[in-house]
Amino acid sequence: SPFRFDLNTGMYMQTQMSNEPAPELEYTTENGAPYINPYDAWKIGSNGPLLLEDYHLTELLGSFDRERIPERVVHAKGAGAHGYFVVTNSSFCRQYTMMDMLSEDDLITPVTVRISTVSGETGASDELRDPRGFAVKFRTRKGILDIVMNNTPVFFIRDPSKFPYFIHTQKRNPQTNLRDKDLFWDFLSSNPESMYQVMVLFSDRGTPYGMRHMHAWTGHSYRWIQSDGTWHYVKLYFETMQGVRNFTNAEATLIQGENPDFATQDLFDAIANETYPGWTVYARVMSPEQAENYTYNVLDLTKDWDDTVPYVEIGKMYLTQNPTNYFAEVEQAAFSPSHIVDGWAPSADPMLQGRMFAYSDTQRYRLGINHMPIQVNAPITPVANFERAGKMNINGNQGTRPNYMSTLSRLGLYNRTYTLDSHQQWTGGAVQSLSAVTEIDFAWPRIFWNGLSEQDQQNLISNVIGHLGEVIDQGIRDRQVALFAHVNYTLGKAIADGVGVTEIANLSFPYGETWYNHTIYSDESTLFY
Ligand code: HEM
Repeated sequence: SPFRFDLNTGMYMQTQMSNEPAPELEYTTENGAPYINPYDAWKIGSNGPLLLEDYHLTELLGSFDRERIPERVVHAKGAGAHGYFVVTNSSFCRQYTMMDMLSEDDLITPVTVRISTVSGETGASDELRDPRGFAVKFRTRKGILDIVMNNTPVFFIRDPSKFPYFIHTQKRNPQTNLRDKDLFWDFLSSNPESMYQVMVLFSDRGTPYGMRHMHAWTGHSYRWIQSDGTWHYVKLYFETMQGVRNFTNAEATLIQGENPDFATQDLFDAIANETYPGWTVYARVMSPEQAENYTYNVLDLTKDWDDTVPYVEIGKMYLTQNPTNYFAEVEQAAFSPSHIVDGWAPSADPMLQGRMFAYSDTQRYRLGINHMPIQVNAPITPVANFERAGKMNINGNQGTRPNYMSTLSRLGLYNRTYTLDSHQQWTGGAVQSLSAVTEIDFAWPRIFWNGLSEQDQQNLISNVIGHLGEVIDQGIRDRQVALFAHVNYTLGKAIADGVGVTEIANLSFPYGETWYNHTIYSDESTLFY
């Protein structure tokens, strides 16, 4: 049923949705004083010079001159909506986590969701071949939880230091200001841990039909934590209720020309027409001991968990409300993996650790130090701490409370009633490179390839040929073809024939993983969580 979330009050109301027209108001300048003539500059005579005292004109131009804020450095093009999450299986969740949000069946948590492409600018086409971002902001009773996902279970890399370079190869060439296929494939062919995600991207899942017809995955292993300090690895998976639907390359190309905002419009229209999109949310749980003995390193974002780890439904999410104002409620939304609540914690996945820093850091730049009190980002619970002042402080700056922990601060220290969780102890040893590629890195690409229908395999081959075939450098094409052939010879040979590679190099990689060298540990005297 339709819900309406009021960003001003944080209240969630069960009312009929309506597209209320903006209220009738008198035109004013920014100081709230009624002003008579919005369309005229003051001038002497009909062609005369303008007057400095025309404060309306200087304010109008000054405001216009400052309208743009930096776009997101990645995921700049996106659409958003509000809705709610409802718990369907609290008894399962309560076995593993103390998260308040999951503690009762039928408990409703308001959400804001933003779905995006990754590499394009704010004006880019919605139908580019690209992963899609899927970010959910849960306004829980115990603070904001952001789950910032993609529409794929894995990612191209497992070392955060590669992320800026990888993104540079998808942005514009420093000289031509054009997208550059040589840079793109040069990076991928030099970093073979990317193969699984590359194959997903070049299947038709790289061009989804809008935003409603795709799943979303947390990708990383996170951790669910109990009040007694015990913990499990957890991954969440949002399964579309609308069914998966993708464009072929030809369809996506056509749509890009006809309506580059196709996906944005599809989402907006669906909600406006009261066809509310929904996702069923599943959790997958693994104990630290299981993880130690698991086939794949659970801290390696280039690999998924296989079907031996069951999917258990925990809730449902629906999008029921379009933004009233896109800039206020979507562009200014600040999603960050570091916005976490009790019971939900990061794992030691190096990519996730990198993200724990990058998002709030970029938001301090993109939106400013006081971005959290902006309505769309503010928790529905009071914020009380000693972070003060800064540009654009609009929340009363926490009033009379002294800005340090004083006897006068009237601020209770959060009294944790549970034991801190025991995390991992690392066995140390030499620093190891996360780039070392071994045979196990090809396991998931092979699983993916073997799971595709014949038609999907053909589409993947032709999608790669269309793109890789435009790479000028022969060495890059040779390297990438050898990697595809290492996944599956038929795949590699078909691509080789399509992109003019005559000799396919025979690659070999050592077996086994080289960097998963920690042991689980539960001595509370040296906790670092
Ligand atoms: C957006 C960094 C990996 C999903 C962003 C932004 C940055 C960033 C700086 C812009 C945020 C903003 O301006 O508000 C990184 C870094 C990564 C990484 C450094 C790796 C080390 C990932 C992964 C996923 C992901 C693995 C998915 C599993 C997203 C999404 C957004 C985003 C969905 C858009 C959020 C929104 O709609 O506002 N990322 N990212 N990123 N990232 Fe990442």
